[in-house]
Amino acid sequence: MKRDGKNISFWESQVHKEVLQNYNETHFETIIVGAGITGVTLAKELQNRGHNCLLIEKENPGFGTTGGTTAHINNFFDSSYDEIIKNFGEESAVLLAEAAKDTIRYIKQNIVHHHISCDFNECYYYLFSADEKQSKKLDDILEAHHKVGIDTEQTFSIPFPLEFKKAIEIKGQAQFHPLRYINKLLKEYIKNGGAIATETQIKDFENKDGIITLKTDNDSVFTAKNLVWATHIPPGNNRFSVLLAPYRSYAVTLRLANPVKSMAQTADLYDPYHYARYHKSGNDYFLIVGGFDHKTGDENDTEKHFEDLMKYVDDNFSYKEVVAKWSSQFYQSADGLPYIGKMPGENNIYISTGFTGNGMTFGSMTSLIIPDLLEGKETELSKLLAPSRIKPLASARNVLDEVVNASVHFVKDKFAADKIDELNELNKGEGRIIKYDGKTYAAYRDEKSEIHLLSPVCPHTGCTVAWNPSEVSWDCPCHGSRFDIEGKLLNGPAMTDLSKI
Ligand code: FES
Repeated sequence: MKRDGKNISFWESQVHKEVLQNYNETHFETIIVGAGITGVTLAKELQNRGHNCLLIEKENPGFGTTGGTTAHINNFFDSSYDEIIKNFGEESAVLLAEAAKDTIRYIKQNIVHHHISCDFNECYYYLFSADEKQSKKLDDILEAHHKVGIDTEQTFSIPFPLEFKKAIEIKGQAQFHPLRYINKLLKEYIKNGGAIATETQIKDFENKDGIITLKTDNDSVFTAKNLVWATHIPPGNNRFSVLLAPYRSYAVTLRLANPVKSMAQTADLYDPYHYARYHKSGNDYFLIVGGFDHKTGDENDTEKHFEDLMKYVDDNFSYKEVVAKWSSQFYQSADGLPYIGKMPGENNIYISTGFTGNGMTFGSMTSLIIPDLLEGKETELSKLLAPSRIKPLASARNVLDEVVNASVHFVKDKFAADKIDELNELNKGEGRIIKYDGKTYAAYRDEKSEIHLLSPVCPHTGCTVAWNPSEVSWDCPCHGSRFDIEGKLLNGPAMTDLSKI
């Protein structure tokens, strides 16, 4: 299968690409765009409830972050419960903790019910501190976990060869192979008559008189009463362009020489934090390690992040061989919680985004929220995660930072091109924003020495894209749209490609 970057993720290397086209009609009750874990789980859930829906994906299932996740399923989040209590209140934090536990049960039910073979394991998570300040934070987290009912206790040993000052053991976690999980769910969905169109990109959409009309790149037109953007950030220029910030995270999978006693997950409390988990597939044992995150488009030397990750790995772990290394994109919301529910200002459009590092959990939790909303049922959970919520104290600083960051890029990057006299000043494998013959280009010379010239102007709102050498893509620093070397759209919120010169 394909993913939105050049590096091949651990999951991607084990799954074949399938082109799925299965529909006989063009009008549906609900259309879901995006066949990652959010869209696939939701399509299956809606089918179970008797809804008539169509799932559309511009590439293959799992092309986006689901193919690049580290696939841990947790009942706590990057936004810790002490922060959630502070920003949203204890009652809301308890509600979210219960929803997270329900979500893990829900994933497990799907696996059992559909006999999904996806390396699923239940396990514990070990969170640890490295200094006094982090230990204080860990105490706050432990206290908050007790308040919200997440089974957690202090521990004096962790099943990873990492030094720590203080550690806690958080029970009730899980992990799996994300692509095997969604692919089997999809098979069940299609077997039961579910409609799907992969390799189909939405080019245009209109929401008028209670009907949504979608036009695709292969000139199909679909209509529906409801639309769900399961694409991470919803496309177009809307408030989520400033309420979400895109980040890249780096991961590596290592084959272990010896079996580990039991599956486990761990992370420290640095910012950005380092995380690791064991994985068992057949008789083989692996260690997946990640971290070294940065804001999308902000780093020129993305290879350095892999080097730093490998240094961290070599300093701390022993292993037989490196099996895969890749990077992936996630979106952080302004107040730390995802936006799942009705798109503000639109009667029949729904979104699910802003998962930070908890995409498997929040992507699946979407199916505990949106189906109810489509059936006219508002719940306490849907109110808590409503995209229309306003949390001024929690969000003001972050939103402002991101708006400023995007504006700085918008202006600064316009003047950042390297002036060159000859195109062959560009080395093989090098991508750069160049000024050549009075014009600015996003230029890349491939390994065969062929030059690929694109307009550097992101079609979303006009920022200048930046070169990502490790994934061989053009990444927009403003809101995270990404494009391949031919200008083809990899990730939104842009809806169209970079112009080819
Ligand atoms: Fe918004 Fe590029 S993603 S300008």
